[in-house]
Amino acid sequence: MEFAAGPSVRMSLAIATAELRDAGCDTPRLDAELLLADALGATRTQLHLAPERELTLAESDRFAELLRRRRAREPVAYLLGMRAFRHIELAVDPRVLVPRPETELLVEVALGLPRGARVADVGTGSGAVALALKHERPDLEVIATDASEDALAIARANARALRLDVTFAHGDLLAPLDRDPLDAVLSNPPYVADRAELPPELAHEPGPALFAGPDGLDVLRRLVPAAAARAPFVAFEVGAGQAGAVGELLRRAGMRVELHSDLAGIERVVVGRR
Ligand SMILES: C[S@@+](CC[C@H](N)C(=O)[O-])C[C@H]1O[C@@H](n2cnc3c(N)ncnc32)[C@H](O)[C@@H]1O
Repeated sequence: MEFAAGPSVRMSLAIATAELRDAGCDTPRLDAELLLADALGATRTQLHLAPERELTLAESDRFAELLRRRRAREPVAYLLGMRAFRHIELAVDPRVLVPRPETELLVEVALGLPRGARVADVGTGSGAVALALKHERPDLEVIATDASEDALAIARANARALRLDVTFAHGDLLAPLDRDPLDAVLSNPPYVADRAELPPELAHEPGPALFAGPDGLDVLRRLVPAAAARAPFVAFEVGAGQAGAVGELLRRAGMRVELHSDLAGIERVVVGRR
């Protein structure tokens, strides 16, 4: 039998928020609420409705362990094992990049593809782009590739859990795709410069998902011409300041270029059309 023995929800959140702020977390209150809700098996709304509820010893221990890991700057998504992306929830762990809100733009630019189009998502990670697109456009044929077998295991499990029919293939960039025509290639490839100064959370994410040479463009330099040669519509997520160089690669490949900015005003998705 468990006895209520710990501090209240209100007190736990106040202490945790202060600790996470001291540890340098950007959103300490939100993180504290998400982790406490997880430790209690509750929702954030339930926390707000019962601020005086006392934690049991077991709940306090679970919350303390989550806080310890978050203070070490493990991403909240890894601690919860889940991340929301557009209208779906994806299981994530340190074998895959945590899907980012700005990547939702990559899905958005593809929503206007013609009915039944055949689309490849290169470097699918958790399956975020491929699965969100299939969820919103079930008529599309979606194929997803990754160089990491670990990532593909997670992406396949996400596809099964979401009951989405996406084909997965292992290998370098477009190499695992068959020779049948493609209507579109989408990719959020690694684009971080090798020696960039990064928030501590990124140290917990897989290096091959992030880094691409001295200027971050090593993968895009190979991928852009290869994708442009395969499909009349291509779209790539890029890092801040990379849109010009990637647009130029597309123009050289004979494509018209459009740039799409994210909510922070950064040119984030480069689209090429023929
Ligand atoms: C930035 S992550 C993007 C993951 C996911 N698409 C997302 O947006 O959350 C890049 C992904 O590309 C994969 N990758 C890196 N180099 C690759 C290559 N040469 N060929 C195929 N996939 C690659 C990594 O394993 C990683 O899953």
